Amino acid sequence: MDQNAKKQAVAKAAIEYVENGSIVGVGTGSTVNFFIEELGKIKNNIEGAVSSSDASTKLLEALGIEVFALNDVSNISVYIDGADEVAEHKHMIKGGGAALTREKIVAGASTTFVCIVDDSKRVPMLGKFPLPVEVIPMARSFVARELVKLGGDPEYRQGVVTDNGNVILDVHNLEILNPRELEQSINNIPGVVTNGIFALRGADIVLSATDTGVETYK
Ligand code: A5P
Repeated sequence: MDQNAKKQAVAKAAIEYVENGSIVGVGTGSTVNFFIEELGKIKNNIEGAVSSSDASTKLLEALGIEVFALNDVSNISVYIDGADEVAEHKHMIKGGGAALTREKIVAGASTTFVCIVDDSKRVPMLGKFPLPVEVIPMARSFVARELVKLGGDPEYRQGVVTDNGNVILDVHNLEILNPRELEQSINNIPGVVTNGIFALRGADIVLSATDTGVETYK
């Protein structure tokens, strides 16, 4: 099975977690794009969505799914999103698509986070994928120096401005032995909006597409 077929399979599997009449939290990325297509097929069964990026909002609206502002919604039962890496304890690295901050907000506001990946994303330890850090532009060089002190090699993601008007540093060569601790430490650097470790609030369920089917980790 090729990677796109796996993404499609896991996107279909995620539909089972969508409750009738609910507002669905929707992540960002190529795997989620397949999920949005599936959501379009059942759009009459849901009230709408809260989106984690302008890109996902456009796709949702194009399919006729109403997109609500998070401020206007009191309950999101499920948040569906991809990841760049998934390790033990359903800890993840996210933000390859630069949407990490809104993703973390919508995930935090949702009761259940279902992470959808193909098996190439599953790793024994986080950190091979360069860790995205969203930074207020004026703090870029200072934050980069602080990240070097934490053992990483930050690289400015040239030409990328997030939906929030900020920049991204991708941090290479981090050994992420304690994801919760590192997530907290990086978030404590002044000028950091957030970083792509999702461990303090990891996923509740991981659906992973393999050649032989979709595996579920709870
Ligand atoms: C977006 O910022 C990311 O967090 C995505 O969720 C992550 O990069 C996974 O994307 P793909 O599904 O395209 O691999």
